[in-house]
Amino acid sequence: MIVTTSDLFEHAYGEYAVGAYNINNMEQAIGLFEGNAKAEAPFIVQISKGSRGYAGVIMIQAIILAAEQMYPNNIFAVHLDHGDEQTCYECIESGFYSSVMIDASHYDLAENIDITKRVVDAAHDKGISVEAELGMLGGVEEDIQIDEKHAMLTDPDEAEEFVFKTGCDSLAVAIGTSHGAYKFSGGQGLHFDRIASIQEKLPDFPLVMHGSSSVPKSEVERINDAGGALDASARGVDENEFAKAVELGVVKVNIDTDGRLVWTRVHREFFRDQPEVYDFRKPGTILMSEYADFIEKKSHKLMSAGKLEDVRDSLS
Ligand code: G3H
Ligand code: 13P
Ligand code: ZN
Repeated sequence: MIVTTSDLFEHAYGEYAVGAYNINNMEQAIGLFEGNAKAEAPFIVQISKGSRGYAGVIMIQAIILAAEQMYPNNIFAVHLDHGDEQTCYECIESGFYSSVMIDASHYDLAENIDITKRVVDAAHDKGISVEAELGMLGGVEEDIQIDEKHAMLTDPDEAEEFVFKTGCDSLAVAIGTSHGAYKFSGGQGLHFDRIASIQEKLPDFPLVMHGSSSVPKSEVERINDAGGALDASARGVDENEFAKAVELGVVKVNIDTDGRLVWTRVHREFFRDQPEVYDFRKPGTILMSEYADFIEKKSHKLMSAGKLEDVRDSLS
């Protein structure tokens, strides 16, 4: 069943976070739906502009609708990740997305507010939820590369003004994370003090944590042992910190890189160990199963595992 992110957040706030996973193909979709079905967890399927370009807007939609038929018990939102204004309108008009993210965080505050407000008005007319972003994460956001020194933590006063003026339903905040496999160096980590100050200004308002892959060391080592060349400094968010973030109002945790690492590890190891094989369905089968395991375990860390029936009750 497809629901809005607002439906999910209302149930989750303060108790658990909903995992939001980017998908690009059939194998990821099956792993994602299977893992959440096993965990009995609500979740968010995220589609980036890059994914829409890769699979095609018709194909990615068909994959998700097929997965829904295969796993009819699942409850999930279909969400555009890091949309620009035009792509938000396309998704709103399509009738398929239940939630869009307008990412105008690279504009100044006034322009970010104007753009976000226009998208909120269009989306709310159709009952679609809107996530917006304020502050700047480091790393790569779609086509825009943001230098670490220009990454800016979200200002709590601005966050309050932004939500009030735009009417957005959730806010992605810059709290120390960045996209990709290289998030922290030295003793860096999540800025809990900043999340707490934002929550103080926006009590009960759903906050979103982008760049939340955990980039397991073991995964990086296995990829490199199988011929990969990832930098050993690769590091992500400590999964044990999700619980504290949840207490401070984080309801959505975005994960893409970890899924790419699973894909890379499975395929590198498979072709290293079985170089004579050229039937791609063999590693594809392993990938679906490994990705499902990854999702199931992650939902326990997010504390969304086992919440499915409660969510269903809350919707009726
Ligand atoms: O935040 C961006 C996501 O990791 C999506 O990545 O634009 O390469 O699909 P992508
Ligand atoms: P990661 O790169 O940490 O997986 O973050 C993904 C993300 O924020 C998608 O919007
Ligand atoms: Zn993101």
